[in-house]
Amino acid sequence: MATVKLKVDGREVEVEKGTNLVDAGKKAGIFMPHFCYHPGLPVVGVCRICLCAIEGRPKLVAGCATPAEEGMNVITKSKAVRDARAAVMEFLLIHHPLDCPMCDKGGECTLQDYTIAMGAAHTRFSFKKNTWPEEDVGGKLILNKNRCILCMRCVNLCADVAGQDEIAVIARGEETYIGTVGGRKIENELAGNIADICPVGALTSVDFRFESRPWELTNVKTICTLCSKGCNTVAGFHPRRNKVLRVTARENMDVNQWWICDRGRGQFHSVHDVVRISTPIYRSRTRGAAARPVAWADAIAQVAGAIKDAVARQGADSVGVISSAELSNEELFLAGRIFGPDGLGLSNFDFPERPQPPVVYPKFTIEGDKNPNTRGARLLGGTAGKRGRSVKEILTAAAEGRIGVLLFLRGGAPETFGDAALVARALDRAGLVVVMDFVASAVADLADWVLPGVSHFEKDGTYVNSQGRVQRARKVFTLRGDTREDWRVLQDLGSALGVLHENDPSPEMIFARIARTVPAFTGLSYSALGDRGAPLDTEAANVAVG
Ligand code: SF4
Ligand code: SF4
Ligand code: FES
Repeated sequence: MATVKLKVDGREVEVEKGTNLVDAGKKAGIFMPHFCYHPGLPVVGVCRICLCAIEGRPKLVAGCATPAEEGMNVITKSKAVRDARAAVMEFLLIHHPLDCPMCDKGGECTLQDYTIAMGAAHTRFSFKKNTWPEEDVGGKLILNKNRCILCMRCVNLCADVAGQDEIAVIARGEETYIGTVGGRKIENELAGNIADICPVGALTSVDFRFESRPWELTNVKTICTLCSKGCNTVAGFHPRRNKVLRVTARENMDVNQWWICDRGRGQFHSVHDVVRISTPIYRSRTRGAAARPVAWADAIAQVAGAIKDAVARQGADSVGVISSAELSNEELFLAGRIFGPDGLGLSNFDFPERPQPPVVYPKFTIEGDKNPNTRGARLLGGTAGKRGRSVKEILTAAAEGRIGVLLFLRGGAPETFGDAALVARALDRAGLVVVMDFVASAVADLADWVLPGVSHFEKDGTYVNSQGRVQRARKVFTLRGDTREDWRVLQDLGSALGVLHENDPSPEMIFARIARTVPAFTGLSYSALGDRGAPLDTEAANVAVG
């Protein structure tokens, strides 16, 4: 890698050849303001706020559009630079409304920050400002053109990352504005990223606007679990409302760069805007009869008793476990210990795959595997592997009356598990159906026992993404109610079945056990994974999966 050495405000710094002055300044610890520049987008150099001086050159240059050169002496703290930036700010604010107190971007607006840092206290513009009404432009975005500073980030995100010319700079001169092409709504599934990167309150998220001020949120670094990509995210949690109010992208160059898709951005709806199961439930064998809440101790004892009874009377083949690659590594490890060869030794133990066509954009792919942890499930115990039966075979056995206890480690619509008619027959003929899940579903509605687990926002855990990268999802909040983290439910069930003899107090401790016993995870720990995760030992992983 060729490098160059330069000075920024007297600080010497060495950067990769081709690095621009904004990034070189950042490395040297010198902040250079920027609106239009974003490291994930093409450089357009339109806002001019990054103007800086280079010793020996007669004119100021745009730092974002100027590559660092050997021996360059960059100056950002001269009067000429200060005056130029102040002039840029004055121009940007000519038509900008004075509505910071009611603007949804307030508190995380770059224009607001820079105005405080280097803007003038008064405007010299005494003419009528341009005004436009707010507009729904699709992509769950509202456009307020009055606030737009024409930085073109939105245009470039659609064109460059999503490959779709859906937003454009329209008209000329003082009348210039941002609008959708042909007045059509934005349709690409990466549009939500625009609300993250618009430096002002011009394009804001329909989901989040006016829900909360950003400083009221507790921001938790976590990951998305809606596909096997495992995008890094920040969950914005409102403590008083006990709710996640938004999910935004978190940079991880090894996984998702700066972006997430709109499905992941809206994942919190699937936790809050659904019918949650908040207590263990028992229904009588005549399914459809009224459900009644049951204490956890009774529910675990009864389910464990039924499984033991089925094994004792009809052998291990009379128990079927439909696992789930939506679960974390820690949970799958426990499931493997309970139902795998060192536990009950079930052959009827597998998880459903959930393939869909991937959505491929030029610089971002939404993975087709809708399970977030297929690799973890294969490595740790979501399946009996080659010696076991498939989900379809398990369901067929249940439909033929050969399964005494059918346990689903996640519920869902019947189609989640294959042929809906087969699932319906299996649910009807199985001796006892148990579902562990946090949300009501067609399958959970037909179960004898429902054990309320929680969503990934409500527990710590790790997941292996499609690249073999192990990443942490962090607990964001606790739902009020009698739910229990799935790893606790499994641990309790394993103890009640007499096949689990340890009682680890946290997912971190379970993960430490995984790292000690599963070669692909050797050397990993929660602290080693940090915020950005770490790769599996892929050689060991390949050997294990075969
Ligand atoms: S809407 Fe936002 S991102 Fe788009 S040009 Fe205007 S200020 Fe920039
Ligand atoms: S690409 Fe997948 S992991 Fe990333 S945000 Fe979308 S659904 Fe979530
Ligand atoms: S950030 Fe350099 S011109 Fe806009």
